[in-house]
Amino acid sequence: MNHKIAPSLLAANFSNLAKDMEMINQSEADWLHIDIMDGVFVPNISFGFPVLEHVVKLTTKPLDVHLMIVNPEKFIPQVKALGAYTMNVHYEACIHLHRVIQQIREAGMRPAVTINPATSVALLSDIINEVYMVLVMSVNPGFGGQKFIEHTVVKVKELRALINSTGSKALIEVDGGVNLETGARLLEAGADALVAGNAVFAASDPVDMVHQLKAL
Ligand code: DX5
Ligand code: ZN
Repeated sequence: MNHKIAPSLLAANFSNLAKDMEMINQSEADWLHIDIMDGVFVPNISFGFPVLEHVVKLTTKPLDVHLMIVNPEKFIPQVKALGAYTMNVHYEACIHLHRVIQQIREAGMRPAVTINPATSVALLSDIINEVYMVLVMSVNPGFGGQKFIEHTVVKVKELRALINSTGSKALIEVDGGVNLETGARLLEAGADALVAGNAVFAASDPVDMVHQLKAL
């Protein structure tokens, strides 16, 4: 029950955001997950910094910021200015990933590397000791409400083995199609943190759903 739960802002009701953020504030959620998309790295656009500057004032939770954008290093100052707790950049979006990870750390944030469903865990062996967290995508990024990709469970097990064998302290977070059923299996496989969008915000009682996810 030490695992973290991060409701995803993408699934919140933006026509009454204050209400949804108040619910998350009152829940046992550990972090608020924020998905930033650019329409280039992923086939969708979500929200940008001018919007988020206002949104983050509504939350009391640490911000788990997931950048689905090309050249994420360009936005380190803006992500820092939001007050981000973690900054997740995609492995596939960073040619010089090691440098980007150092830059995020130097800016005072916890660096996390995100891998797409087709990206192998084995590719992380030379960066695993440098990151605070690995975010494993269990859907192809760009949209909420997609079906969980089963193979992710195997990847989480492989990543847990890599972390154990290297002495890395990296956390494992999983994002996409997480609910009570998939969440339980991911935790069993070795996950430390679960992002949940629709599972939380489409629930009849989101606060209780966070409680149930925390209790897994
Ligand atoms: C997908 C995003 C996810 C998304 C998850 O590209 O990275 O964080 O909000 O939504 P659900 O939990 O509904 O799959
Ligand atoms: Zn995400």
